[in-house]
Amino acid sequence: MAIRNIRTEEDEILRKKSREVTEINDRILTLLDDMKDTMYAADGVGLAAVQVGVLRRVVVIDVGDGLIELINPEIIEEEGTQCEIEGCLSLPGKQAHTIRPAEVKVKALNREGNWCVYKGNGLKARAFCHEIDHLDGKLYIDRTATQEQIDELKKED
Ligand code: NI
Repeated sequence: MAIRNIRTEEDEILRKKSREVTEINDRILTLLDDMKDTMYAADGVGLAAVQVGVLRRVVVIDVGDGLIELINPEIIEEEGTQCEIEGCLSLPGKQAHTIRPAEVKVKALNREGNWCVYKGNGLKARAFCHEIDHLDGKLYIDRTATQEQIDELKKED
């Protein structure tokens, strides 16, 4: 168990694409454990491996209903739209509205190497999308909604 250092916006690594995990070995399991500890210590709801400086497609999420560990995650279905305020442990003190799907289905390997499917809406859908974006070098600020878009979506509600 160890808490790793969270990289922040100015670190170029956050813009790099993470590589697939081809073998779930002790290094990956330790990475998952450390990421969990790091996320909880920072009071976050999600963390991608790149945020602790490891370019591997590994994510942990906990929106308050239990820990989810994702290896090589992919969004396989999405539905609807939501526009809510989002933040990131790598961009401390900042937040902005982003447009995300209202509901997503994600496929990923678990630590035993089995494919699992997870469903999430609301905050959990945002967390899945946000963390999977990290694996492709994307940050939520790339998706900041304009005031026009925010007004438009609020009108629909
Ligand atoms: Ni983030």
